[in-house]
Parts: sequence; C-alpha cells; structure tokens
Amino acid sequence: MELVFATGNKGKLREAAEILAPGFTLLSPSDLGLSGDVEETGATMKENAAIKARHLWNQAHRNCFADDSGLEVDALDGAPGIYSARYAGEGKDFRKNILKVLENLEKASDKKGMRARFRCVIALIYEGREYFFDGTLEGKITMVPAGSGGFGYDPIFIPEGYDRTLAEISEDEKNSISHRYKALLQMRRELSRITGTEL
Ligand code: IMP
Repeated sequence: MELVFATGNKGKLREAAEILAPGFTLLSPSDLGLSGDVEETGATMKENAAIKARHLWNQAHRNCFADDSGLEVDALDGAPGIYSARYAGEGKDFRKNILKVLENLEKASDKKGMRARFRCVIALIYEGREYFFDGTLEGKITMVPAGSGGFGYDPIFIPEGYDRTLAEISEDEKNSISHRYKALLQMRRELSRITGTEL
C-alpha cells in the first residue's frame, strides 16, 4: 500500500518505512512536488496531526498520514506537550529545552515521582476518512542528563523498566519501544483490518 507521510524529516520517513515494511511504500510531500508545510495552530497533538494530514489530503487527494509528538511531564501539568520543539524559544534548541524542563522541575512543589511520557498521535486519512492512533512511552525524568544518542529530550528520559536514558540505548532498541513505533503499529493493524489484508 502506498501512503504519503506528511513530514519533511528524512529520518522520520526512514524510521516509519522500516517499521511499516514490507507492506507499505511511503512517499513524502516533496516526492509529489509539495512542501507539506502548514501552521500547527491546534491546542492538542491530535488537532495538530489532523491539521497536517488534512492539508496534505486537500492538496493531493492521496491516502496520507501525519504525526505530532512531544514530552508530557506530570509535575509540569503535561508541559512541554505540544510546545516540546519550541519550549525554550523559536530556536528549537534541544539543550535549552532540556534545561528549561529541569529548571521548572526544580521549582515544582510536587515532583510526582518525576513521571513523564512521550506521546505520538497519528492522523491517517484513508479514502477520505480520518482515523487517529495514540502511542505512548511511559517513564521518568532524570535531573542528570546522560547519553549522546537520539535527539530532543532523550538524555533526560528513562523509559519504564530501564535504568538508562533513551540517549544511552541503541537506536534499534529505542525504535522498538518508542511512542512513534506504537502509533505506527496501531495504524498498520487498522489498515489491515479495513482492507482485509495482512499488511
Ligand atoms: P515532532 O512532532 O515529532 O516534530 O516532535 C516535537 C518535539 O517533541 C521534538 O522536537 C522533540 O523535542 C520532542 N520529541 C518527540 N519525539 C521525541 C523522541 O523520541 N525523543 C526526544 N524528544 C522527542
């Protein structure tokens, strides 16, 4: 099955293609001569994912999906959430974003066991109908960043059942437990169900 993934991020496209192989061929907006860029004005990850998928569907009328993801820290009432990429400003600086999370956690009165999760919401538009999938990776924040792998908040996030941060485990291992992996698997399962074929 051919699907267009509304992302300009080559790493994400490759990761999704690996997870969805062999049943899917993924295209990017640029493969169709489109930019795919649209302002993310939603109040939730679900709304932002839907905005991106609808934008692509309206331009191309091709089966497509978009994702939105972020970190939710319980002691910060779910922040940075939809603001994960720009938490410390428009520069999207991962190091500054991490520092801001740690500073705000220092100030938080109830640290709630440092519980946090990564969440990924996928909006799929298949033959004009919308479907949503939600994948989470539960864990906790460590005040001492560790590891050089991954990206974003990986150095301060320890997944449940682990004693190392996401930046300290291999890319393959991260990709087998991640919020994106879980959401993509749900999408694959649902598409198998809808089409009545094993994808
Ligand atoms: P996006 O919606 O996938 O572009 O993710 C938005 C932001 O959430 C990223 O810029 C990161 O700050 C954060 N984020 C999402 N997924 C991850 C992850 O797997 N590790 C670390 N940070 C992530």
